[in-house]
Amino acid sequence: MRIERNLGMDLVRATEAAALLSARWMGRGNKNQADQAAVDAMRFALESVPMNGVVVIGEGEKDQAPMLYTGEHIGTGEGAEVDVAVDPVEGTTLLAEGMPGAISVVAVAERGSLYTWEGISYMDKIAVGEGARGAINIEAPVADNIRNVARALGKDIDDVTVVVLDRPRHKDLIRQIRETGARIRLILHGDVSAGIMTAIENPPADILMGIGGAPEAVITACALKCTGGEIQCRIWPKDDAERNLVTESGLDTRRVYQTDDLVRSDIVFFAATGITPGEFLNGVEFFGGGARTHSVVMRAASGTVRHIEATHHWDKLMRISDLQYDKGTSDVFDG
Ligand code: FBP
Repeated sequence: MRIERNLGMDLVRATEAAALLSARWMGRGNKNQADQAAVDAMRFALESVPMNGVVVIGEGEKDQAPMLYTGEHIGTGEGAEVDVAVDPVEGTTLLAEGMPGAISVVAVAERGSLYTWEGISYMDKIAVGEGARGAINIEAPVADNIRNVARALGKDIDDVTVVVLDRPRHKDLIRQIRETGARIRLILHGDVSAGIMTAIENPPADILMGIGGAPEAVITACALKCTGGEIQCRIWPKDDAERNLVTESGLDTRRVYQTDDLVRSDIVFFAATGITPGEFLNGVEFFGGGARTHSVVMRAASGTVRHIEATHHWDKLMRISDLQYDKGTSDVFDG
């Protein structure tokens, strides 16, 4: 069935709900509770989305994750058959520590179109926005990529900003970037946001480089597919167990996955809501009796990118997201 409806407008209610409920855990030092609040809220809101969804990127296997587990059917069951990728809190540490940049994310694409690697945690990635699409090659030296992106954007190399996760594994990458003269933005967490940051208007960064989560690569690809950006990645087994898995499954660490390999369809919807204040999305702002959220909704087929600022009133929240909200405990319960 063709997907005529802009599911993004339904999905954003799920990321809003997850952000609203998990934002109460900001800075409380409890990653699990913060994530659980987001998962509960998102699961509840996604149930009423008119789609026949299967979670392909979720909270883990069924036995570890009671909800939003890989393989779970989600949505009303009517309408289009779709793959669903969720990251109820992207940047759980950022949220638990009260640091900027935690967001809630859902992406939906035509059934069978989202690529996933069971058991592989990380990918080596390079991503850019539309202006530099076609200028990157993950197999090329770092300096060549930076030079080509600079040329595509009409910038001097020392005006190019590369965003990199601050990890010991990136020591050599950071050295190579510095040698080119390009600027670096080190981030503690959240390479989905970082990837999207290269693709927004007046981007605060031009290139994302380095090794980050494999599910996050696919979710980033969904957003870049909507905005016209590009991501390339290679699997990066983190230990012997993953190296064995790569051999046993016939995977190839040299294979380059392009945006269209990660998301093999142009029918893609993406929604994200800020949880803590961030660079491209504001965090949840509480006021007496309610809260404001800032979200982005994207659709690949039309290329539309909508920013949505919403005001939520606790006493009416049932009507907004079918959630009941217990202000004291941040519990969501079906009532
Ligand atoms: P979580 O929200 O699951 O904690 O992920 C945060 C994150 O920073 C991702 O954005 C990134 O892809 C991944 O973790 C990097 O993993 P690691 O912290 O193990 O280097």
